Amino acid sequence: MNLKRIMRMLPFLCLVILSIAAMGCYPDHNQSTFDPKGPVAEAQLVIFWWILIGGLIVTVLVEAALIYAIFKFRRKSDDEMPKQVHGNTRLEILWTVIPAIFLAVIMVPTIQTLFYAAEAPKSTLPQHTLEAIGHQWWWEFEYVDEVASDGRTIITANELHIPANRDVYLTMTSADVIHSFWVPKLNGKRDVVPGRITNLTLHADAPTPLDHPHLGQCAEFCGLAHADMRIRAFVHDAAGYNEWVAGQLEPNLATGPGWDTFRAFCTLCHQVTIDDGGAIVTFGPSIPDRGLTLTVDGVDFKSSRAPNLTHFGSRSTFAGATFANTVEHLSSFIDDPSSLKPMDPDRNELRTVDEIKDGQRDRILGMPDYGLDQAEIDAVVRLLRSWN
Ligand code: CUA
Repeated sequence: MNLKRIMRMLPFLCLVILSIAAMGCYPDHNQSTFDPKGPVAEAQLVIFWWILIGGLIVTVLVEAALIYAIFKFRRKSDDEMPKQVHGNTRLEILWTVIPAIFLAVIMVPTIQTLFYAAEAPKSTLPQHTLEAIGHQWWWEFEYVDEVASDGRTIITANELHIPANRDVYLTMTSADVIHSFWVPKLNGKRDVVPGRITNLTLHADAPTPLDHPHLGQCAEFCGLAHADMRIRAFVHDAAGYNEWVAGQLEPNLATGPGWDTFRAFCTLCHQVTIDDGGAIVTFGPSIPDRGLTLTVDGVDFKSSRAPNLTHFGSRSTFAGATFANTVEHLSSFIDDPSSLKPMDPDRNELRTVDEIKDGQRDRILGMPDYGLDQAEIDAVVRLLRSWN
């Protein structure tokens, strides 16, 4: 393509790029930062406008002065030398002091907001403490304050349920590489780092409709499926939250068809809590080899190898909140996981139970493909979806 044609297409290209950028700013989008739904996101938006307006004023003033100077002092004839101002102390003080004032005006509220965003909840009410662990490529959330009579807590993956108008304190770490927790409508990004604890206070102003949760995203490049490491934050009123908690603390009831396959393959990595004829039993890798016993700065994180599937049927999505929890998606995912979500670089290899048992699981990233037949897949999908 020659330069002329490129130049002719330039306005059109600019228009396309601009409209794509504008779509990202569309406030109604449930991942937009322009429609904050919590106090921290709101404070951050105020800072954004503050800096944008400050920057615009500087741009307009500087460009105006530049354009004025270009025309006013342009060379009119070959032997003309414009007026020289080198060494003008008054001018030099002026153009040092003015930017310093501008920077100070932007810096003070920025630093205040930074500290505000990092604050731990001051509330004397019982805190909702949530432990969050970043994994390649999913989020694990443990509700350490919501405990059943037998000591079980709620462990979910990717989907977060929080009460409205309450502070929820996140204690976060990573099981592998650096991730970043980001739900734009509630908070800015906070890195999730292996061997370190980072915290974040989530506070949402109002409940979200069940089909319109706040969306989030891992915001630090963490490998092959980084883009498929998403978050859905559902906000409930007090009654709705209590109801959700009570439901999650129930063990999953049914085993039924599909259970033998599930036990033989899925529980090598996934945990699930079952009411096994009156006894409440958790199947799956036991705590010492749940993959990673994470103790960071004195906090014991109960880290799993793979998402805990208790109440899987109640989740709206799966696989890093990437796919809707439907029969079709689940069947294709179990049939060939890496074709839906790129995880394993050797994606075409079938895995055996022994290979996974041998501890190779840590080297095989993402869900393995065991080559189950369609009848087995159908039964497992039905079973998973019955655990609501
Ligand atoms: Cu985790 Cu990007």
